[in-house]
Amino acid sequence: MQIKKWIKIEEIINGQKTEDEIDLRGWIYRTRSSGNIVFMVIRDVSGIIQATVKKGNLPDCEFEDAKKALVESSLELKGIVKEDKRAPGGYELQVTKINILNFAEPFPIVKDQSPEFLLDQRHLWIRSQKLTSIFKIRSTVVGAIHKFFRNLGYYEFDAPVLQPNQCEGGSTLFEVKYYGNKTYLSQSWQLYAEAAIFSLEKIYNMGPTFRAEKSKTSRHLSEFWMAEMEAAWLDLHDITEIAKDEIRFILTEVLNNHIHELEILGQDIKKLEHIAKSDFPTITYTEALKILKEKSKMDILWGKDLRTIEEDELMKHFDTPVVVTNYPLEIMAFYKPKDIKDPKTALCFDMIAAEGYGEIIGGSQRSIDIEEMIKRLKDMGENVDNYQWYFDLRRYGSVIHSGYGLGVERVVAWICGIDNIKDAIPFPRTILRFKP
Ligand code: 4AD
Ligand code: MG
Repeated sequence: MQIKKWIKIEEIINGQKTEDEIDLRGWIYRTRSSGNIVFMVIRDVSGIIQATVKKGNLPDCEFEDAKKALVESSLELKGIVKEDKRAPGGYELQVTKINILNFAEPFPIVKDQSPEFLLDQRHLWIRSQKLTSIFKIRSTVVGAIHKFFRNLGYYEFDAPVLQPNQCEGGSTLFEVKYYGNKTYLSQSWQLYAEAAIFSLEKIYNMGPTFRAEKSKTSRHLSEFWMAEMEAAWLDLHDITEIAKDEIRFILTEVLNNHIHELEILGQDIKKLEHIAKSDFPTITYTEALKILKEKSKMDILWGKDLRTIEEDELMKHFDTPVVVTNYPLEIMAFYKPKDIKDPKTALCFDMIAAEGYGEIIGGSQRSIDIEEMIKRLKDMGENVDNYQWYFDLRRYGSVIHSGYGLGVERVVAWICGIDNIKDAIPFPRTILRFKP
C-alpha cells in the first residue's frame, strides 16, 4: 500500500530533515503577519515549529490565504527545513505551498484566562501544550500499569460498574435508577475481585470509579480512574512491596519516554529520577504521629484520621513516597481486618506522596471474620443481607488475601507536578462540574 509521507514536527526538531522539502499538516498555533511575510507557529501531536510564508515563494492566492488564516486553522503545507538557532526548537520551515483546510473562527481562548473559563472551554483547551503533555504522560502511566501487572502474571478481570453494595462508605455513593429498583455506581472493584481470586489468584483492573465527594479540594474528583489489584495468599507486607515497585515502574516508564513533556510542564526531572531509584520507607500510623509531634510540633490525638495538612506536614520529612500502615481500626472500612499484634489497628496501608499530592494508593489485607464484618456493617447502618454473597467467599475455601487501589489521576498529577487533579483527567467531574 502506498501512503503519502507526511512528516511529523518531531522529525524536524530531531534534525532528520535539514534542507529537505517536506509535507506537513497540522494547526496554526500562533500567527502574525507583517507586509509580505507571515510568521506562523504550526503544531501537530509531536511538537511546534516556526514556519515563514513569504510572498513570491508560493502562489499569491495561497499567500493571501495564509495571511487571513487565524489561530487553530487546519492546514497542509510544503516547505524547506532550515536550521535557525533563533527559532524555537532550532529549525524553521520556509513554506513553498500552503492549503488551508479550515479557516478557524476567532479562537475563544486567549492568554491569561481563568481556570473556570478554561474548564468551560475544555473541549478546546485540551489542545494546549500543557494538557497535550499531561495526556501523553497519562497514556504512558496507564500503559505502564497494564505492563507491570501482566509482567507479574496477573490477569485483567472486570467487575460490574452498577453495584448493589457500598464498598467505601455509604456517604459518597451515586445512586442510579435501575428499572424499578436502585443501584449504585462503583466505588471500587474490590468486592468482586475478592470473588475472583479463588479462581484467577492474581488479578488487576483499571476502570472508572465514582464518589459523590461533597468537598471541593484539589485532590478529589467525582469520577476518577482507579487501578486496583487483588491477590490470594499475599499479606499486608507483600502488597506494600508490590505497590512500591509499581510506582517506581510507572515513574521509570514516564522518564524513559517523556523528558520533553516533563520539561514543558516545568517538572524537576532529577527529583523524579531519584525517586524512581529509591527504596520507600514503611512506617506505622503511630510512628507517623510521633514524627509529627517530634519534628513538626503537631499533636494529633491517636485515633483521628490524618487530614491533608497532617499528611503534607509529615511528607516534609521524606524525599520519596511513604507507606503508612496500621491506621486505627475504628475509622477503617468494614473489610479491613484487625492486626492481632496491635488490635486497635487494622492491617491496612496508604501510600502518601510529597508536596501536597497526598494519598496515591490505599489498600489492605482483607478480613476473613464474618461476625466482625457483620458487626461493623450494622454499626454503619447497612443492610447485612446485601453482603451475604460476599460472606460466602469466607465460607468456601477462604484464604488470606490482600489488594490495593491506585488513583490514576493522583499519580498523574504528582508525576506532572500540576496543582489541581482536574488537569489529570480530560473532562473532569466534580461536585460543581459535569459539563462539557
Ligand atoms: O483508598 P481508597 O478509597 O481505596 C479503595 O477504594 C479500596 N477499595 C481499593 C482496594 O483496596 N482495591 O481509594 C484508592 C485510591 C486512593 O488512594 C486515591 O489515590 C484514589 O483512589 N481516590 C481518588 N482519586 C480522586 N478522586 C477521589 N475522589 C478519590 N478517592 C480515592
Ligand atoms: Mg483511602
